Amino acid sequence: MIRISFDNSCFEISLVNHHLLPAPGFQRFADTKVKLKLVQSMANIARLLTKRAQDQFPNVVYPLQVITRLNSSCKYLTVHIPISNKSWEFIKTEVTGEKKNVAVITLNRPKALNALCNGLMKELSTALKAYGKDANISAIVLTGSEKAFAAGADIKEMAPNTYSQCIQGNFLNDWTEVARTQKPIIAAVNGYALGGGCELAMMCDIIYAGDKAKFGQPEIALGTIPGVGGTQRLTRVVGRSKAMEMCLTGNMINAQEAEKVGLVSKVIPPDQLLVEAVKLGEKIGTHSNLIVQLCKEAVNTAFETTLEEGLKYERRFNHATFSTIDCKEGVKAFIEKRPAKFINE
Ligand code: CAA
Repeated sequence: MIRISFDNSCFEISLVNHHLLPAPGFQRFADTKVKLKLVQSMANIARLLTKRAQDQFPNVVYPLQVITRLNSSCKYLTVHIPISNKSWEFIKTEVTGEKKNVAVITLNRPKALNALCNGLMKELSTALKAYGKDANISAIVLTGSEKAFAAGADIKEMAPNTYSQCIQGNFLNDWTEVARTQKPIIAAVNGYALGGGCELAMMCDIIYAGDKAKFGQPEIALGTIPGVGGTQRLTRVVGRSKAMEMCLTGNMINAQEAEKVGLVSKVIPPDQLLVEAVKLGEKIGTHSNLIVQLCKEAVNTAFETTLEEGLKYERRFNHATFSTIDCKEGVKAFIEKRPAKFINE
């Protein structure tokens, strides 16, 4: 966090980097004219400060300034610094869709077939955290190149690993940001999704595949085994026999087979894949982000618990939705035969 005092008024400005993006609430503060004016003038100040911070910290992911929160005493201004492409080494990011509410993260390490090196995974986590907290983003699409979604963990990087280093450094523990993200994530998989690449796709909520995609857990051929869900998520999705066959042989399955066994929900021509994945994100984005989040959590609970527990959880979430403004609005809009206007509350 970069805190910069603003000395010719009573305000102090906190410039918060992407790891610490605040909860959005700015819209409500902007309701009155006075506050709107205040916020606008502070936005100008924030722009200048961001520029200064950029010069000072060129490696931090910057820029643009959207004020997302002004605390009740109006003393602090928190500046939301969204993501810019120029700082990434291993990924590309873009916000797209008609309403600019779908974030696309593209794994971008073509020479190594998007092998998931530490640097790439760090950038991916950073982008996911930022988009996860960005109120304008309803869904995230994760994709790679036409040849490879990702060919797994970086074998060259993991070559020197020792058992004690893995244990003490908790190897692979920081790979799970995808699974922790509360927003819906769609994997758009073209080409190879192998080892950690297949596991990364399975951490996403929905997988769309290009018709040349290939999925596999080839770790066994390296004398190791999957480490981020290949033996667990795959088994839950495709069943024990198929998962066992894939993990013990290292054999790949193609997109059509992956669809047949329920690993992917749709197979699409490669050149249409991203477009369709974004459309899916946009469709999800027409609903209340809040209810989508609850629904995602309820579906994911099916993977984590018994049917009885899962049903209880689902029922409580169902009950909880009736306390939201969006549920009242959705039901009212249906009865009045008009589109619902959700406010995510
Ligand atoms: N790590 C590091 N580099 C990789 C890589 C990986 N996982 N996969 C590919 N590359 C590199 C290659 O070394 C090669 O680099 P150079 O040109 O510098 O030699 C480049 O990417 C292109 O690869 P190939 O020449 O091998 O391309 P290909 O078209 O002939 O074959 C492939 C493609 C079948 C995907 C093959 O590259 C391959 O088998 N890759 C390894 C797949 C694998 O075993 N993944 C599991 C990794 S372990 C893991 O993921 C553990 C976990 O659970 C987290």
